[in-house]
Amino acid sequence: MNDLRTHYFTAVKLPLHVIAYPKNELFVGRVNLLQDLSKKFLPVPRPERTRTPAFAIWGNPGQGKTQTALRFAYSKRASFDSILWVSADREQKLFEGFSQYALSLGLITESIDLVRDTQKLIDWYQKTGQFFGNIWR
Ligand SMILES: Nc1ncnc2c1ncn2[C@@H]1O[C@H](COP(=O)(O)OP(=O)(O)OP(=O)(O)O)[C@@H](O)[C@H]1O
Ligand SMILES: [Mg+2]
Repeated sequence: MNDLRTHYFTAVKLPLHVIAYPKNELFVGRVNLLQDLSKKFLPVPRPERTRTPAFAIWGNPGQGKTQTALRFAYSKRASFDSILWVSADREQKLFEGFSQYALSLGLITESIDLVRDTQKLIDWYQKTGQFFGNIWR
C-alpha cells in the first residue's frame, strides 16, 4: 500500500511551475542579488532546514524587484518541483492564487472555499515533506 508521501507525490503532476509573467530575454545584471537568492534557496532539498526560507526584495517603484524575482524563478526552474507566483496585494488575491494552484495540482477538483483550498495546498506541501510558512498568523 502506498504510504501517504508516495500517494501525495503520485496524485499530482510535477513539476508544476506557474509563473505569472513571461521570461524577460532582455534581463541584465543583478548578479549579486541573484547569488544571494541562490544561497538562500538552494540547494533543495536541504534536510537540515527547519524553517521555510524567505527573502524580501525592496526598492523604489520600477527598480527591478519583480524582474529580479522573475529571473531567479526562470533560471532555477529545474531545481524546484513546484513554483507558484501569487500576488499578495490583497488577501483575497493571495488565497485565489493558492486555490488556483491547488486546482492545477489536482489537489481539489473545484474551488468551494478559498480558505479550505489553501489549507489543502498547505497540507500537501507539509505531507510531501516541504515547508510552507504559517500564513494564518
Ligand atoms: N535587470 C533588468 N534588466 C532589464 N530590464 C529591467 C531590469 N530590471 C528592470 N527592468 C525594466 O524595468 C521595468 C520595471 O521593473 P520591475 O517591474 O521589475 O520593477 P519593480 O521594482 O517590480 O516595480 P514596482 O515597484 O512598480 O512593482 C521592467 O518592466 C523592465 O523593462
Ligand atoms: Mg514589481
